[in-house]
Amino acid sequence: MTVTEFVDLRSDTVTRPTAGMREAMATAEVGDDVYGEDPTVVALEAEVAARFGHEAALFAPSGSMANQIALQLVVPPGEELLCDADAHVVTYEIGAAAAYGGISSRTWPAVGAEIDPEVVAGMIRPDGYFAVPTRAIAVEQTHNRGGGGVIPLATLGELRQIADEHGLALHCDGARIWHAHVADRVPLAEYGALFDTMSVCLSKGLGAPVGSLLVGSAEKIERARWIRKRMGGGMRQVGILAAAGRYALDHHVERLAEDHAKAARLAEAVAPFGVLATPVRTNIVPLDLTKHPLDAKALAAAARAEGVLISVLGPRTARLVTHLDVSDGAVDRAAATLTHLLRA
Ligand SMILES: Cc1ncc(COP(=O)(O)O)c(C=O)c1O
Repeated sequence: MTVTEFVDLRSDTVTRPTAGMREAMATAEVGDDVYGEDPTVVALEAEVAARFGHEAALFAPSGSMANQIALQLVVPPGEELLCDADAHVVTYEIGAAAAYGGISSRTWPAVGAEIDPEVVAGMIRPDGYFAVPTRAIAVEQTHNRGGGGVIPLATLGELRQIADEHGLALHCDGARIWHAHVADRVPLAEYGALFDTMSVCLSKGLGAPVGSLLVGSAEKIERARWIRKRMGGGMRQVGILAAAGRYALDHHVERLAEDHAKAARLAEAVAPFGVLATPVRTNIVPLDLTKHPLDAKALAAAARAEGVLISVLGPRTARLVTHLDVSDGAVDRAAATLTHLLRA
C-alpha cells in the first residue's frame, strides 16, 4: 500500500497541493525576498496583516520559526515566558526558546484548551534581581494537544487585561486560528486585536505545502526580519510558496467547516466506546484509551494494517485529524475501521 492509499488522519500537515494551488504556484511572480523584491511575498504579508488588523507580517518557513522569532521579540534572554504545559512552543519546538533565545519557560497545567486566567495571573513574577521576571504569556488557538479545543474570546480578553496590568506581551500560536475563526465565528481582526504577536500557519488546515506568518506591529516585524535572517530563514524566490498561501487564503478557509463536520462524524463513531477525550470542536478528535483494552500503539498498528493512519501522542493517547485530503468516503472507511477495532 502506498501512503496515498491510506486514510491519513495523522495530521493536517499531510495534505498535498491541489491542482489550482499548483497552477497559482507555477504562475507566481517572484523576486529575491531577502532584498524585499518578491511581489507575491509582499502581497501575502500585507494581506495577512490586514486580515488580523495588524500593521505588518513576515513570511516564515515554518510555524516553529514564526513562534520562536516572536518569543525572541518579546522575551529577553534570561527572562520568562508563561504558557501551558502542552503548548507546542514547549513540547514540539525542541527547546528552541532556551537554545536560541535564552528564554526561561514556566508552564501552567494543561487542561485541554481551558485556561483559568487567575492561575496565569498568580504565576506572574515581578521585576527585581531576586526572581526571573515574567515578560510574556503565550496561548495556542486552536490547541493541538488540547484536542483542537477553542479558547473562548472572553478568556482571551481576560488574559489581555492581565497582560496589560503587568506590562507583559501576549503571543498567540495561531497555527490553527483559522479553525477557531470558523468554529466560533470570531472575526480574525478580533483575535488580532488581542495579541502583540501571532504566528499563523498556511501549511496545516489551509493545505499549502510550506509557510507561516508572524503578525505584529511594523516595528516588531522589522526586528523580526532581522531575527529570521539570523536564524537562517531568509528566503529568495519564495513567491512560489507565497502564491500557494494566497491561494489557500482565498479557497481553503471557509471550507474548514467541512473538516470540522468530518471530525464530528468520527467522534460520533468512537464515542460509544468511551474513548473520546474531550468534545470535538474543530478538526481534531482526541482519543483517551485509559479505560480501553487497546493502548495507543496497538490501536494505531491495527488501524494501519487496515489502511487507516492515526497519531500516537502518548501511551494511551491518540489523535485523528481531518483535512483537505480526507474525503467523505474516507471518513466512512475510517469510522468503520475504528468502530470494528474498538469493539473487538
Ligand atoms: C499548534 C502548532 N503550532 C506550531 C506548529 C509548528 O508548525 P511547523 O511544523 O510548521 O513548524 C504546529 C505544527 O503542527 C502546531 O500544531
